[in-house]
Parts: sequence; structure tokens; C-alpha cells
Amino acid sequence: LIQPVVLSGGSGTRLWPLSREKYPKQLLALMGEDSLLQATLRRFNGVSGADSAPPLVVCNDEYRFVVAEQLRLIGRLGRIVLEPVGRNTAPALTLAALAAQSGGEDPVLLIMPADHVVTQLAAFQEGVRHAARLAQDGAIVTFGITPDRPETGYGYIQAGAAVDEDGARAIARFVEKPDRATAEGYLQAGDYLWNSGLFVLRASVWLKALALCRPDILEACEAAWKGGASDLSFWRVNAEAFAACPSDSIDYAVMERLAGAQSVAGLPRGVVLPLSAGWSDVGAWDALWQILPKDADGNVVQGRTLMQDSSNTLALSSGRLLACVGVQGLVVVETPDAVLVADQRHTQDVKKIVDRLKRDG
Ligand code: GDD
Ligand code: MG
Repeated sequence: LIQPVVLSGGSGTRLWPLSREKYPKQLLALMGEDSLLQATLRRFNGVSGADSAPPLVVCNDEYRFVVAEQLRLIGRLGRIVLEPVGRNTAPALTLAALAAQSGGEDPVLLIMPADHVVTQLAAFQEGVRHAARLAQDGAIVTFGITPDRPETGYGYIQAGAAVDEDGARAIARFVEKPDRATAEGYLQAGDYLWNSGLFVLRASVWLKALALCRPDILEACEAAWKGGASDLSFWRVNAEAFAACPSDSIDYAVMERLAGAQSVAGLPRGVVLPLSAGWSDVGAWDALWQILPKDADGNVVQGRTLMQDSSNTLALSSGRLLACVGVQGLVVVETPDAVLVADQRHTQDVKKIVDRLKRDG
């Protein structure tokens, strides 16, 4: 049994003004008809053991109806674990593990961020099957992407000794979000991979690892889970207990401690499977431009747009006519109440605008 778990928590501030607090990016149809959440779940059609299991989605209470409706529309009714507040991915995964064990089983969890894109389905599914076999035996399995730039928003995994004959390697070292100079060093070293953000492991393996690394998080989540309530497909955790849970990511809480200098004794073994399946994290507008189909001038256009002597530009209009003349490498996004014009090299900084809006109202 493979239990698909989707973590759908971030608000995607770097995709403002399309992604809003009320409607975060994973619930938007950014490419085609499916939202990123729906596309994430459909990615398993064909992976036996995972495509029939009702998925578990962990998300904020505020999105419960949109999420339930989106699952219904793709025929994947599942259980939705509702967080009253965000406490990052380590608590979210812990709630999912507790939920998955509540039926008395100890399934292999397939943890997926709701906001990633994968273009090569067959290769991805083969990787998932391989990972599930290793996780069955107690490993914490990750997928490694060959890096092509010194990205500082990702985790880096140093691939160690071979674990099997199919390409699996031990995690020799895991470094979350290194600084620029360190990331450049890893790129040059050549034996580092990006962490894709997908994790495959048994529920009990996660809970055991967390007990060793962050017993405080485990305790808070157990209290929140026990004090919670469920109605039909929604599982609500105890708000007070969960609010008291420390915030931390899977990567900092456990992954960095699997091996290397910070390692903690008694942890399960970490494995990385190199994955080449057209993976990308749709983190910011430049990533979206990379992924989407372009015209002969390298433009990605949606809605009512006119492009004149412009190239390598992403232009999205949600209503009004959007015209670009003589520009290169821009992102222009039109919505009813806000328009973004950004240089593609600076799209990471869109979140600074959102921070300012939050601060100044
Ligand atoms: N339910 C829930 N609750 N989900 C959450 C929460 C939360 O509090 N916080 C984040 N998530 C979800 C996000 O929606 C996203 O789908 C996923 O968990 C990962 O969180 P991010 O905040 O996007 O993490 P990141 O991108 O900075 O880093 C992770 O992903 C990278 C690859 O995209 C790490 O695993 C890195 O090591 C990795 O390289
Ligand atoms: Mg992310």
C-alpha cells in the first residue's frame, strides 16, 4: 500500500498577483485545465498501490472547500487534514503520518508538494515504484535532480555509495538552502543533487526519526491529533495544541541529520534516487516561463495579449488587453486589481512586494 500525501500549505507569494492568500498557487490552473494540486494527484494514475488509495491532503483550514471540490472534480475523494495555522512541513508530515496510521496500518507515504510540475510521467512513475520498494524496507527516500545553477532555495544532497544496482545512492550529506558560494562549490564538486522535495518513507519511520531529532514537534502534533475531530472527509486538529507546535521543515528537522557532521545516531538510512523526469518547482514567475510552451520569439502569452518586437517575455492577461512593445525578458501579469511588471531576473523579489502590502495594508 502506498499512501499519497499532498502538502498544500504555502501561499505562493512569489506568484503574486495571480496567487493570493485567498487563492494560493497550488489551487490555480497555471498550466492547462488542472490546478497544480489536481495535476499532482493525477500523476499517480498508473502507479499501482498509489492510484487507488484515497489521498491525504494536508492544508490550511481556510482552503477546505476548494480542496475538497478539486479532489471531487478529478474523482479522487480523499481525506483532508486541516491545519488551523501553518507550522511548516515537519508538523504537516507528522499529522499525515498519524492520520495514515489511524487505520492500524503502516503504509509507505509518498509525500508530494502540491506545487511542482513533472513533464515526463513514465520516468517519474518508475522512480516512485523504485522508491516505494526501498521505503518498504525502512529507508527515507528522496529524489535528486541534477542541478544546473547555484540555486539557494533548494536542498542539496551529496550522493554517496551505491545502495542497489538500479542507481539508488546513500545520502552522504544533506544541506538545506546553502548560501550562494556554498551552492557554487557543490555545483563544481559535481556529486551534489538538488532535493526535489518529494519524500517516500513509512509512517512509522518518520515518527521514529522525528522522535530522535525533534521530540517537541512530535509531542505537539500527537496532542493536536488526539484532541482533534473529524467529520466526513475533514480531519481537524486541535487548534490550541497545534498552535503550540514549533515550526520547522522536514529538511532542517530531520534530513540534515541523517548523515554528515550533524548526524544523529539511530536514524533510518537516507537514500537518494537520481530523477530525470522534467521536474520543476514552480516557485516564481521565471520558472513558469521556463516550463510553458513558447512562441517563436520565446514569449509565453495567455489571454488578450499583443506582442510587438518583444521576446522571452511572459505576458498573462486575465481580462484587459495587454500589449508589449520592444521589451525582452519581462514578466507582465494583469489581474482586475493589480498589475505586475518585473524583470525575469528579479522574480524572486516579488515576495518583497507582498511583504510590503501585508505590512502597509
Ligand atoms: N500542509 C502544509 N502546511 N504544507 C506546507 C506547509 C505547512 O505549514 N509549509 C509548506 N508546505 C508545503 C508547500 O505548499 C509546498 O508544497 C511544500 O510543502 C514544500 O514547502 P516549501 O515552503 O515550498 O519548501 P521549499 O520549496 O522552500 O523547500 C523544499 O522544497 C525544495 C524543492 O522544491 C525543500 O524540501 C528543499 O530541500 C527542496 O529543494
Ligand atoms: Mg517550494
